[in-house]
Amino acid sequence: MDVTRRSMLKWSGAGVAAAGVVAVTPAGLAAADPAAALPAGPLTTPPPPSAQAQAAVKKARQLVSKMTLDEKIAYCHGIPATKGFTGHIPANDRLGIPALRLADGPSGVGNGSTGVTQWPDSKALAATWNPATATDYGKAYGAEQAAKGHNIALAPCINILRLPHWGRSFETYTEDPFLNGQLAAATIRGIQTNHVISTVKHFAANNQEILRNSIDVVVSARALQEIYYPGFRAAVQQGQVGAVMTSYNKVNGTWAHENRINVQDALRDAWGFDGMVMSDWGGTHSTVQTAKAGSDTEMPGGTYLGDALKAAVQNGSVSEAQLDTMVTQVLTAMIRVGLFDHPLPDPATVVDTVVSTPAHLTLARRIGVEGSVLLKNNGVLPLARPRSIAVIGNAADAGAQTHGGGSGSVNPNGTVVTPLAGIRARAGSIPVTYAQGTLGIAALPTVPAAAFGSGLKATYYTSTDLTGDPLGTETIAALNVTATPAAVAAQTDGWSARYTGTFNAAEAGGYRFSLSVGGVTTLSIDGKKVLTALPGREAVQNGLVTLTAGSHTLEVTYVSAAPAGGRAPRTSLVLGSQAGYDKLHQAAADAARAAEVAVVVLADLTSEGMDRSTLALPADQNELVAAVAKANPNTVVVLNTSGAVLMPWLGSVKGVIANWYAGQEQGNALAAMLFGDEEPGGRLPETFPASDQQGPAKTTVEFPGDGVQVYYDEGLAIGYRWYQHSGEKPLFPFGFGLSYTTFRLGNLRLSRTGGGLRAQATVTNTGRRAGSEVVQLYVAAPDAAQEPAQQLKAFGKVTLKPGQSTTVTLDVPRDELAVWLSPSTGWTVVPGNYSVGVGTSSADLPLRGRITVS
Ligand code: BGC
Repeated sequence: MDVTRRSMLKWSGAGVAAAGVVAVTPAGLAAADPAAALPAGPLTTPPPPSAQAQAAVKKARQLVSKMTLDEKIAYCHGIPATKGFTGHIPANDRLGIPALRLADGPSGVGNGSTGVTQWPDSKALAATWNPATATDYGKAYGAEQAAKGHNIALAPCINILRLPHWGRSFETYTEDPFLNGQLAAATIRGIQTNHVISTVKHFAANNQEILRNSIDVVVSARALQEIYYPGFRAAVQQGQVGAVMTSYNKVNGTWAHENRINVQDALRDAWGFDGMVMSDWGGTHSTVQTAKAGSDTEMPGGTYLGDALKAAVQNGSVSEAQLDTMVTQVLTAMIRVGLFDHPLPDPATVVDTVVSTPAHLTLARRIGVEGSVLLKNNGVLPLARPRSIAVIGNAADAGAQTHGGGSGSVNPNGTVVTPLAGIRARAGSIPVTYAQGTLGIAALPTVPAAAFGSGLKATYYTSTDLTGDPLGTETIAALNVTATPAAVAAQTDGWSARYTGTFNAAEAGGYRFSLSVGGVTTLSIDGKKVLTALPGREAVQNGLVTLTAGSHTLEVTYVSAAPAGGRAPRTSLVLGSQAGYDKLHQAAADAARAAEVAVVVLADLTSEGMDRSTLALPADQNELVAAVAKANPNTVVVLNTSGAVLMPWLGSVKGVIANWYAGQEQGNALAAMLFGDEEPGGRLPETFPASDQQGPAKTTVEFPGDGVQVYYDEGLAIGYRWYQHSGEKPLFPFGFGLSYTTFRLGNLRLSRTGGGLRAQATVTNTGRRAGSEVVQLYVAAPDAAQEPAQQLKAFGKVTLKPGQSTTVTLDVPRDELAVWLSPSTGWTVVPGNYSVGVGTSSADLPLRGRITVS
């Protein structure tokens, strides 16, 4: 492939370990040797194991020495799990070893469990910028896992948000490796206080869903070390995590679970990890190579690490010593986290037990508040005693979006407090009206056959671009195709189709069409493209058009293309429609006009298994806000989204709160903030771009890849690092968030401590109510370090009463100043002048200083 067209930044870093790919070496540095073992350096020397950890290893070895071969093999793979959990390794009663029961996920106990709390998602937790809150969460969440009899929690997910489009954005924390590591370690510490093993996932470079089971991530060694590894290193070294789940993808040509560079060299040898390494579900691809890579366990079954591993040990291709090491690692995690001494109930006996508690709901509400980010406030919030409130949006009521999809989804115990319910409960005697405003983001009703008159002509092609001689034609009644048409059933490597006919608009006005697709699909009406829907993206994609009443020509094209070496995806082509979507806007605008304040609640729906095709809010929600804001200048927008969205209406609304997917207490948390009982305490853990064109990875090979590989050409420049480099001005920068009060920062004092640095600054609450501020410290290394301009190295959250001042002390240990220049230098601190910026976001650092580090 043509690598020259890809933009390699100066800090892309050396050591892209993939055949045929140019390794870019920053000027003046030695050429990279991608396969080289990692040299020792400040961050690669594992800390000595504690006496307790050594004792755990010793006990684990003793147990392993008593095991038969079959008993050992049992620890290297799962067996089928039952309801409420998703991974299972049976007990060894002979040796008194408890069973392992593994359950998702990051924002509550998953896998269909009932009686549990649906917590705010990981993004909300990250937005608190408060490791103490993350520990509180971990303790409470871990207690629910324990009470359900699960001794391994498949959480937290800490993959770096390389791009805001990632479908699992809500499951993960942030774009910044330092914030990531601090939150990961804090959450893990909390979970493991329950003697439940925390599993940090997915190692490594799992940053997209498109082709997640096959994609090969081509990433420089430097970006791995500095961006994609640090959260996992912190999980191991600061969080003492018990288990690591590898990812589905390949990293530089090798599946993650058999990737020796990641697992043995980095995780185990460089960071000293002595616990369990399991695969993601179905993410094991080999026996011998996996065993030799430092990984232990295949989940959920034993295709490669069951009988095949036993045979490999018997024929000598995997040594028994290697097997002993694998099993020792699993048992070490169990012993170290205290599973032997704290037996849990059999999940079957507690499947119906309610383990959510009032205290947990209170904490869920607190995280919802502390993690909400006030993005705009032109004096509208907190609401004084308004005469009336109009609450608007499907997401405020029936379509409340309180959690994401996939393995991270959680069934709430009891009631989900919707935004409308929360506002109504808090409003008391203040009248609250509600207008749906939009049908929301689910699929629209399927267009009935009657709308197509005498049906649609389907023409099928063997090509994947609608060219060549048609394979056949047929007339179909409606576009509700969920099985591969017979004419192309044999085309396992791809096919295409064109559907033509008429669409009869029953009335004149605004029409919304929705498509749910398994192939690239276009919808055109009267020759004008209304929508292009992509597979692997939003489950429902929408287009808007204004039609006259009567008959219109309609054309739909569908292309089903197999990925390299794979089969054509599952066929799906479902067209839905809604006439008069704009009438709902009008009704919402009328409700807004009649009220003193309008609160519009908007949502997206993201999930494991999909990536967003655009950062635009789905369906007709932007148009809805525009209509409401025109009718009422006191409009507040609440965003229940997985992460960054575009806000074309920003200039016309008075307030915006990013409330993420805030779990079952969403409505109560929101009402408390709107009415000023609490202030939104969050700061952005991710940059909000101003347009879909901003940000790194704008070519197909960079995202979502060429079908086989995806190139992380931006190197270190993701998130705010990219924006500094490119000069693009995001909508809201990383670290940003307003308070209901105001703060002044001053009096920066810099000093050197233990080879690192210390910054102290005075923070004063200059407003009229108590509030919290997150003081952030960014460091720019000397030029020779070849680093992005400035990077987060410390932060501290303070809560102050009106008029109160305090000194914030931010320490940056020497290791945090280290950079990974190349395989030959490893981690090293470049001596020279470091510039330090302290402030309240990556783009607002009023306190500046310099300090020499030798
Ligand atoms: C997900 C993991 C999850 C596992 C078990 C996989 O599809 O990627 O995050 O823990 O399923 O449910």
